[in-house]
Amino acid sequence: MSIRILGLESSCDDSAAAIVDSQRNILSNIVIAQDQEHKPYKGVVPEIAARSHLINLEIALDRCMSQSSLSLSDIDAVAATSGPGLIGGVIVGSMFGKAIASVLGKPFIAVNHLEGHALTVRLTDNVQFPYLLLLASGGHCQFVAVKALGDYKILGSTLDDAIGEAFDKVAKMMNLGFPGGPIIEKMAINGDASRFDFPRPLYNQKNCDMSFSGLKTAVRLKILGLGVLTQQDMCDIAASFQKAVCDVIIRKTQHAIEYYEKICDGKNIVVSGGVAANSAIRNALKVLSECLGYNFVAPTTKLCTDNAAMIAFAGLERFQAGIVDGMDFKPRARWNLEEMQN
Ligand code: KG4
Ligand code: ZN
Repeated sequence: MSIRILGLESSCDDSAAAIVDSQRNILSNIVIAQDQEHKPYKGVVPEIAARSHLINLEIALDRCMSQSSLSLSDIDAVAATSGPGLIGGVIVGSMFGKAIASVLGKPFIAVNHLEGHALTVRLTDNVQFPYLLLLASGGHCQFVAVKALGDYKILGSTLDDAIGEAFDKVAKMMNLGFPGGPIIEKMAINGDASRFDFPRPLYNQKNCDMSFSGLKTAVRLKILGLGVLTQQDMCDIAASFQKAVCDVIIRKTQHAIEYYEKICDGKNIVVSGGVAANSAIRNALKVLSECLGYNFVAPTTKLCTDNAAMIAFAGLERFQAGIVDGMDFKPRARWNLEEMQN
C-alpha cells in the first residue's frame, strides 16, 4: 500500500508544504516565497522570516491539501525541517509539524534540511547510493560522499561564504535585488566573462575546500574603482564573477572526485541546493562529469531551491527505514550532515 508523507519547510525564507508518496510521486508541492518582505533589506531578516512563516505555513498547507485532493487523514506521517537554518523559522515549522502529527496520531519525522537537498535526486531520478554531491545553497557549500541514507562524509567545504551568499552579495553591491543568484545569472548572459580577471581563491590547493570572500572583496573593489556603473559594466561583472565561481567549482570537483573514489565507487555526480539552478554551473559540471565517465544529475530547477517535496521525501526514506522522532526533538540551528548516522 502506498505511503504518503506530508513535508514542511521553513528553514530560511520559503514557507513550503508538499506531499510525496512511496511511488516517488509528488502529489502536491506549494512554496510561498518571502522575497517581497525581505527585498527592502537586500537579504533575509530572520525575525521577519519567522513571523511570515507563522502566517504562510498554514496557507501553504491549505493549498497543498487542496492541490492533492487528499485530506489530512490520508497522511501516514509528518516530516518537518528541524534544522539547520534560521532558528525562528525552524522552530515555527517543526512545532507546526509536531502539532499536526499529534492531532492526527501519526509519527513525526525531524528532517535535516541538508539531507533533503542531498536526497532530492533519489526522488527525481532514483539515483542509487553512493554518489558524489556538491551541495551549494545560500547557507551551505560542501562536497559530500553520499554513501547511504544517514551516512555522509564531508570531503570539503567553504571556509567562509557559501556560493549562493556570494551571488547574493555581488547583486547587492550593484543594487540588483534579492535573491541575487538568478539576477546575476541573467545579467551574465549579456556580459563579457573575460573583461575582469577576478581571483579564483584556493584554486591551487590540492583539496576540495573553497573560499569566496576574497572573490567578493575583489568584486567590491572593482565596483568602487569603476565609479558609476553602466548596464554593460554590470553584465561584465556578473559574467566575470560567475566564470570565476565556475572555474573554482570545476577545479574543486576534480579534487573531490579523487577523494570520493578512495571511499566509494558509484558513478554519479550530483549538484543540488539553490545554486544548482544556475545553468552555467550545471553545464560546466555536466561537461566535466562526462569527460571523467560519470553521469551528471541535477534536480529540476524548482526542486533545487528550497521546497517541501525534498523534506517529505527525506522523511519518506527515513520512515521506510523505521526511523521516526519523538515530540521532544529539539530544533537545531546547526546540524552537520555527518551527525545524521543513527
Ligand atoms: O537552497 P536555497 O533555496 O536556500 C538555502 O537553503 O540557502 O538556496 C538559495 C540560494 C540563494 O543564495 C540564491 O541566490 C541562490 O541559491 N540561487 C542561485 C540561483 N538560483 C538561486 N545562485 C546562482 N544562480 C542561480 N540561478
Ligand atoms: Zn536549502
